[in-house]
Amino acid sequence: MLQSSKAMFKLEDVSKCFRGGIQALHSTCLELHQGQFTVLLGPSGAGKSTLLRCLNFLSSPTSGRIEVNGLGTLNGNRRLLRAHRHRTAMIFQQHQLIGRHTALQNVIIGRIGNYSIWRSMRPLPDSDHILALECLERVGLLDKATERVDNLSGGQQQRVGIARGLAQQPTVMLADEPVASLDPATSEKVLSLMHRICSEDNLTAVVSLHQVGLAKMFADRIIGLAGGRIVFDGLPHQMTDNVFGRIYQNRKQTSEKMAARPARKTRSVTKSNNGGKNEKSIFDTDVSHAFVNVNHSSASR
Ligand SMILES: Nc1ncnc2c1ncn2[C@@H]1O[C@H](COP(=O)(O)OP(=O)(O)OP(=O)(O)O)[C@@H](O)[C@H]1O
Ligand SMILES: [Mg+2]
Repeated sequence: MLQSSKAMFKLEDVSKCFRGGIQALHSTCLELHQGQFTVLLGPSGAGKSTLLRCLNFLSSPTSGRIEVNGLGTLNGNRRLLRAHRHRTAMIFQQHQLIGRHTALQNVIIGRIGNYSIWRSMRPLPDSDHILALECLERVGLLDKATERVDNLSGGQQQRVGIARGLAQQPTVMLADEPVASLDPATSEKVLSLMHRICSEDNLTAVVSLHQVGLAKMFADRIIGLAGGRIVFDGLPHQMTDNVFGRIYQNRKQTSEKMAARPARKTRSVTKSNNGGKNEKSIFDTDVSHAFVNVNHSSASR
């Protein structure tokens, strides 16, 4: 496995149990290495977001220890968390941008963590504006700097989100389904951009995805989760149909159970931007997409 010597994250027996006894993550031991692009794969509810959120304490583990290179063990200490989050870019599926602000204004938000609250209320120095413009240039959107982000396409908005993360000058990038709301071609472009930037800047990236094909294209390492446990940890080429079955097996069983039930209105869990139109159950979509992507990926090699 492609590994640099240093672990950026060391997880020891980390688990997360939500109120109501939902065990989102079972006791997990894991090392995530500096400069690696790690993809988390798994069906809905597998615990991908929970694991990602534990890595920056957006969700605090119920038990166990997370050690971060250069900072020590994460705990409730605010100063430590602030330092960790400051060097950790978070990229979300829904971009989390301010629609009425320009691309540049959104990217500058990535600089605010450098300042105290009172200082960040005043205009930031020119050097921050220049850095933000450079970040927009890196994602190919310099010409959109003064455009309101709600006038940009989904792919462009995600690139603004990446630029905002870069403006933090991070050492870690955590991305939770960053391309879930994009079409396949745009997804590949955005992920390729993210991968190139992480590799140029030697960032430690942990990215959750639903598309197995994209994972195989870009990951240095794939971690497969099912039912809150790691069921696969290996290289992209080791992601065989067998492994695929292991990761998505529970989904298949659940899918079969759903099919056996009498028809009733099912809750849509597809994360769409279409106001609910054409919504499908995940059971209709994700796994088949994943198969399509596997085939696409192997065909394109
Ligand atoms: N805040 C919460 N409170 C209670 N349960 C939660 C909470 N967040 C997640 N869960 C539960 O924890 C489990 C894992 O959820 P998680 O969001 O980590 O899955 P996921 O793999 O990211 O799924 P998806 O692919 O749909 O995003 C699920 O059963 C989910 O319902
Ligand atoms: Mg998730």
